[in-house]
Amino acid sequence: MNAKIDELLKRVEEFHPKAAAEIEDFRVKMLGKKGELTALMEEFKSVAPERKRELGQKLNNLKQTALGRINALREEFAASAASAPAEDDLTRTGTAEELGSRHPISIVRNQIVDIFSRLGYTVAEGPEIEDDWHVFSALNFPPEHPARDMQDTFFIEKHPDILLRTHTSSIQVRTMERQKPPIRVICPGRVFRNEAISYRAHCIFHQVEGLYIDRNVSFADLKQSLLYFAKEMFGEDTRIRMRPSYFPFTEPSAEVDVSCNLCGGKGCNVCKGTGWLEILGCGMVDPNVLSANGIDPNEYSGFAFGMGIERIAMLKFGVPDLRLYFENDVRFLHQFDSVL
Ligand code: DAH
Repeated sequence: MNAKIDELLKRVEEFHPKAAAEIEDFRVKMLGKKGELTALMEEFKSVAPERKRELGQKLNNLKQTALGRINALREEFAASAASAPAEDDLTRTGTAEELGSRHPISIVRNQIVDIFSRLGYTVAEGPEIEDDWHVFSALNFPPEHPARDMQDTFFIEKHPDILLRTHTSSIQVRTMERQKPPIRVICPGRVFRNEAISYRAHCIFHQVEGLYIDRNVSFADLKQSLLYFAKEMFGEDTRIRMRPSYFPFTEPSAEVDVSCNLCGGKGCNVCKGTGWLEILGCGMVDPNVLSANGIDPNEYSGFAFGMGIERIAMLKFGVPDLRLYFENDVRFLHQFDSVL
């Protein structure tokens, strides 16, 4: 009996099944009604009393080892079955994957980039976390200018010099640092302002900045480029008008309106009866900005413009509330499925 116990123990220890079904076979052979271990238990009843203690311990140890091994193997196989991929059923009918659509802001950003790339502009980018120099100082903002005020700008608490860019005009500065004229770049990006969120204001939005610097660049070039852009974006019949304005980084500066594409300029509630919609700011790059960035204003001139992507998308698609762009409600987003 002693030898038989040793033999079974060895078999339990050396049992390495290849499939889960082998475990159950093994259990039946050992512990089933007619199993070998069960038979040993039966035999144990007739063992001489003086040997019962020794053999009883050995037998019990064998039983526990066998049960432990069987349970451990079962768990092992169950775990690997759960992580293994289910077998592909090649006869199953396919389910159609629902396609997502491009976000309206991306659609309009791509259209703006596309239109200007036809005029020879390339895309430039810059960091969203900026310093005072690139967002304000190099763009001729006087030190006391209200745009630097805590009201508008998100500063990094421990470093008042580090801030979230409030406009993509900072990429003008980054481009001038990297590149000598001629420069012709379009700079799309996210910007941040400390604004209360409402239907017409958000603390995060998107802008596209344009910059063109070369010899003999004139205001007429600026006007013609923007007219081309407006017609491409809003339709061939679109007209533009320029109103004098002020920006620290351009002189002279202007704001540009396009004729209202909803009423054709007759006046409606979108254009508030004026027939015009404001779309961007622009101007001739201020000589101070050129000098601050190592470009000789006596040799070169340039123009710049900046527009909000949300605003253009609102006018193009009739979106009534800025917050819709950030909610990612698929009922809103699916309305742009067919636009690309
Ligand atoms: N940076 C201006 C803003 O955020 C937009 C702008 C206006 C950009 C005029 C320009 C410009 O380049 O010439 O409101």
